[in-house]
Amino acid sequence: MANEEENAGHVKRQLAKLFGASLRATVPDEPEVEPLIAATADEKFGDYQCNNAMSIFSKTKGSGTGFRNPRSVGQAIKENLPPSEMVESSSVAGPGFVNVRLSRDWIAKNIEKMLLGGIENWAPQLPVKRAVVDFSSPNIAKEMHVGHLRSTIIGDALARMLEFSNVDVLRRNHVGDWGTQFGMLIEFLFEKYPNWEDVSETAIGDLQAFYKASKQRFDSDAAFKERAQQAVVHLQGGESKYRQAWSQICEISRKEFDRVYQRLGVQLEEKGESFYNPYIPDVIKELSQLQLVKESEGARVIFIEGSNIPLIVVKRDGGFNYASTDLTALWYRLNEEKAEWIIYVTDVGQQQHFDLVFKAAKLAGWLPADGSTYPKASHVGFGLVLGEDGKRFRTRSSEVVRLVDLLDEAKTRSKKALIERGKAEEWTELELEQTAEAVGYGAVKYADLKNNRLTNYTFDFDQMLNDKGNTAVYLLYAHARICSIIRKSGKDIEELKKTGTIVLDHAGERELGLHLLRFSEASVVEEACTNLLPNVLCEYLYNLSEIFTKRFYSNCQVVGSAEETSRLLLCEATAIVMRKCFYLLGIVPVYKI
Ligand code: ARG
Repeated sequence: MANEEENAGHVKRQLAKLFGASLRATVPDEPEVEPLIAATADEKFGDYQCNNAMSIFSKTKGSGTGFRNPRSVGQAIKENLPPSEMVESSSVAGPGFVNVRLSRDWIAKNIEKMLLGGIENWAPQLPVKRAVVDFSSPNIAKEMHVGHLRSTIIGDALARMLEFSNVDVLRRNHVGDWGTQFGMLIEFLFEKYPNWEDVSETAIGDLQAFYKASKQRFDSDAAFKERAQQAVVHLQGGESKYRQAWSQICEISRKEFDRVYQRLGVQLEEKGESFYNPYIPDVIKELSQLQLVKESEGARVIFIEGSNIPLIVVKRDGGFNYASTDLTALWYRLNEEKAEWIIYVTDVGQQQHFDLVFKAAKLAGWLPADGSTYPKASHVGFGLVLGEDGKRFRTRSSEVVRLVDLLDEAKTRSKKALIERGKAEEWTELELEQTAEAVGYGAVKYADLKNNRLTNYTFDFDQMLNDKGNTAVYLLYAHARICSIIRKSGKDIEELKKTGTIVLDHAGERELGLHLLRFSEASVVEEACTNLLPNVLCEYLYNLSEIFTKRFYSNCQVVGSAEETSRLLLCEATAIVMRKCFYLLGIVPVYKI
């Protein structure tokens, strides 16, 4: 546990301590009352408020405490507040809200501390040591579509936020590399490439086309179908020729996926469906011994209260399915990998599947019945990506959009915009390339992450690459401009960090300082983490950039002013917090524009 000094940035936590002390003094007979601290809705009243008065009043009414109304409770809470350098002033409003205004010096000191000690000082604290984030997870030989792109982007952001919070994150790519479709693929490989062992991936080329052709063959030729079904049996029986063909097909897909991950800067460790296959029988056995598995129409199922469909764990033909694999993977992650929080990132269409799997795990006693304690499993669902026609995002010829093509286009477009701004003359080719990638891929990611993930969103290059509005381009440029203010000052910012002090006398300075400090409070990274909502962080980042530009920079001259040192430090702190946000969202920052 970090000590108080180290976590000085956690505004709400610190205020909770102060108000906690006050509540103990105000209602000594109610030691359980937890302080309720929130940012004020209207800054006129202060920065934060304590909302306990009303509930304390109704709780203690008639018990001889002498409070006449909620407001008098609020008054007492205010008076009992221990003196603290953190609070500049406090007041009681309406039915007993206790508002506090933070001291400018205290805000300034916290920012100075962050500048010296690093932004890690402002990392959230989560009650979890290890988490699994199961994300991306495309299917071998099938297309990796925009749904998988969403999963990759959202899952990576969540993993980054958890990592920042000192959680050990297992980034799992649960690829669909097992199942009956492999019989068909293997048989098709044998048929089409009699010397398949020597065939290179380039000869097979496009696996999606390969999948389509083999499916066509499967659907139209009964003898082929029969052979394909036999191939599944051989593969599952572990026959080496079949295993080898299978791994060859997997390898080709893997290379394709990796090309996308590389561009997006996403790390994943593959543990596909096939990995869990050997563990399934024992898990089913355990569930059967617990009397959870029942016979139903020839299949073996787990009935879940409140659900009209059961969870099928063994198919009628005796084979295992998606659910048996997921139950086993969950078991493995809890027991072998000792994860306390297991997070699945898929489209909302799979919500019911996960709901049933989690409920089955609760029945088995693997997870506590009360879903609010750890170990915990969470499904992070997301909506569809729509095209400009409002329908599912497709190419003009209504094919699935290839992700590499999509990323290529994002890069090409952002490069073109940079060239139009005259950057081809100003920069080296490498700088141009790197910036085009950072901006192009960053734009795709941010356009996805800024929405509440459950809503559908429209994929629109023009919009996401606009340099005005709530886009990555706007934010990256804003960051680059802050860096250039610091560069142009000609000052050594590392030296200033050590010797300079921050003063927040101007309203714009104070507002910026307070917003910077809010990065550390429970409502930003911690909330984004706890509620698995990256858009909370995007919103914070956008507001930071707006406050910097509109409240601070347009009112407070930096270079050449009497307050230059302090203001340069505020610029630097803003740039550091922005970069951390970019990092957590998987966006590469740019330093000049
Ligand atoms: N392969 C699945 C799909 O493409 C996603 C897998 C998600 N993870 C899991 N453990 N089921 O839809």
